[in-house]
Amino acid sequence: MAETEARIDSGTVLEATGLCRSYGTVKAVDEVSFALAAGGSLGIVGESGSGKTTTARIVVGLERADRGQVLVHGRARPDRARGRAQRLARAREIQLVFQDPYLSLDPRTSVEGVLRETLRLHFPDTDHAARIAELLDQVGLGTRAAGALPRQLSGGQRQRVAIARALAVQPAVMVLDEAVAALDVSVQAQVLNLLADIREQTGIGYLFITHDLGVVRCVTDQVIVMRRGRVVEAGRTAEVLADPQHPYTRLLLESVPRPSWDPARIAAARRALAGAD
Ligand SMILES: Nc1ncnc2c1ncn2[C@@H]1O[C@H](COP(=O)(O)OP(=O)(O)OP(=O)(O)O)[C@@H](O)[C@H]1O
Ligand SMILES: [Mg+2]
Repeated sequence: MAETEARIDSGTVLEATGLCRSYGTVKAVDEVSFALAAGGSLGIVGESGSGKTTTARIVVGLERADRGQVLVHGRARPDRARGRAQRLARAREIQLVFQDPYLSLDPRTSVEGVLRETLRLHFPDTDHAARIAELLDQVGLGTRAAGALPRQLSGGQRQRVAIARALAVQPAVMVLDEAVAALDVSVQAQVLNLLADIREQTGIGYLFITHDLGVVRCVTDQVIVMRRGRVVEAGRTAEVLADPQHPYTRLLLESVPRPSWDPARIAAARRALAGAD
């Protein structure tokens, strides 16, 4: 433990070292390592099935790794939480926001109810009403939304509720798995702006999982590119996107529809990739 702590500089909030997870013969996650700076935003990109969600689930603790470690502030996260206190402490380290808040919001619980439940659990002694108002404000939902049920909200509003619930526990890290993928483009931009603001205000670190390189460009400062469970490229987002080193990253970039979309360059990247590893 002392050894590990000495290795981690104090600016790292989350570190993964050599994570592995197989399902039968499928190596879903294969020697994945990364570090998230305190207050930073690290993107994980890669095509469908490349191991992004499995990595996220291991980091959060919903899935166990066959090998490797997840460290928060230099301390290894135990595989399993023992007892209520440890479960709550783990939840305060890392919160997960995923694509479809419908699945995580109880259809019968109002916005206010969702937040109160979380606050009661983690901060039984605080003034919940004041904190709920603050959280609603922070995610750009007025107090008018407090009494609404999930089905009465738009997709963007529901995702704001999920973000507010994550913020309520004051986590060190938020893992966002395709958190804006289901939203319309204009709503997506609003939620991405909101997330950027929140990071600036709170210093919460983001692990931002997406297949969308435009999203990565918007909200991350570092990125890792995953392919078939492995990290094939890692670096500063601006540099990786401007000058990708791995053919797979180039292929991902070329596959993003945009004005300069050029089938010949995609074909070239595909050919390079075929001989790449
Ligand atoms: N519980 C499971 N049982 C069996 N195989 C699994 C399980 N979870 C993931 N896999 C397999 O592991 C690989 C990685 O899946 P994962 O969901 O992590 O990919 P992903 O990058 O998140 O993909 P997507 O972009 O589609 O969400 C896939 O081949 C998937 O089929
Ligand atoms: Mg996924």
